[in-house]
Amino acid sequence: MSPKEIVVSGIRSTGKLHLGNYFGAIRNYVRMQQSHECFFFVADVHSLTTHPEATSMQENVFRILSECIAAGLDPDQATLFVQSDLPQTLELYAYLNMIAYKGELEKTASFKEKARNQPDNVNAGLLTYPVLMAADILIHRGALVPVGKDQEQHLEMTRNLAVRFNHKYGDFFPEPRAFNFGEPLVKIGSLDGSGKMSKSENALSTIFLSDPDDQILKKVKKAMTDEGPQKPGTPMPPYIQNLFQLLELFSEKTVVAAFREDYDQCRIRYGDLKQQLARDMTAFIGPIREKAAALQADRPFLNRIMKQGAEKAGSSAGATIREVRRRIGFNYGPGDQDGSVR
Ligand code: TRP
Repeated sequence: MSPKEIVVSGIRSTGKLHLGNYFGAIRNYVRMQQSHECFFFVADVHSLTTHPEATSMQENVFRILSECIAAGLDPDQATLFVQSDLPQTLELYAYLNMIAYKGELEKTASFKEKARNQPDNVNAGLLTYPVLMAADILIHRGALVPVGKDQEQHLEMTRNLAVRFNHKYGDFFPEPRAFNFGEPLVKIGSLDGSGKMSKSENALSTIFLSDPDDQILKKVKKAMTDEGPQKPGTPMPPYIQNLFQLLELFSEKTVVAAFREDYDQCRIRYGDLKQQLARDMTAFIGPIREKAAALQADRPFLNRIMKQGAEKAGSSAGATIREVRRRIGFNYGPGDQDGSVR
């Protein structure tokens, strides 16, 4: 039997978790943690490319850890850790930077977007963001990466770097791919019809796992709609499709079918749809929000989880980096074989 494929994924610590994070990533983490060997982490180093404030770092990282556990991640099943606890990742990042080209990095959509958003801070970390992400994955020799649609281009870069490394230094890394149980990758649109839900933008049209019930209702009520279809067979505009997608994620099948029928018959009442959606959303989010709040207040517990995760992830990363150094030619003496000092 071939060895089990390893799963790696990370979430940037740039704000609170929202429905896009949950359905694009965390839900799959929870589904995979029993059947696979999983490494999930909070990408605090990545957050420095856009959010370098030291004052909010701890709170952000502890919040994301708490929200992930509240949403179903089990630190005794998956390895749950914080990116900056693994120096081996940053070492691999340095090596991968030597085989990553400026031209390909400049072409990445996320780089162009972020450079546009923060013209006064187009730092080199922003440019090499996908290289660090590749290091995150390859440091555990990860093959499956549960992420949303927006990460596809980054994964393509990871594969390119893996292939390039293997070509130069001999077959070692797998070629990681996005994983979503064979279903299409999920993208949750923001409620104002402009782009996706986001941790750091669009707060009023993004639903967070920490939103109180009345806030959820308020945001859903404000979601973009129109006067409804005027004749049967009218295709749904994207912002209406988005509402239906959300309804499908939270509501009973029969309820969704009834609203679809109403749409087809041109008698849909978006006010009713929104009431239903908000009701089903709050029933789902409420318990996660409460549990996350309790965990977040328990720093000793979170510290224990972080330490346990850092140890498990560190041993996997250590094994990889020793082999990488050897292949690169950094094997100068007997001590190098086991990673200890010469
Ligand atoms: N780039 C991812 C995002 O913005 C976060 C991330 C960093 C990641 N490293 C990763 C995801 C490794 C998967 C694997 O959401």
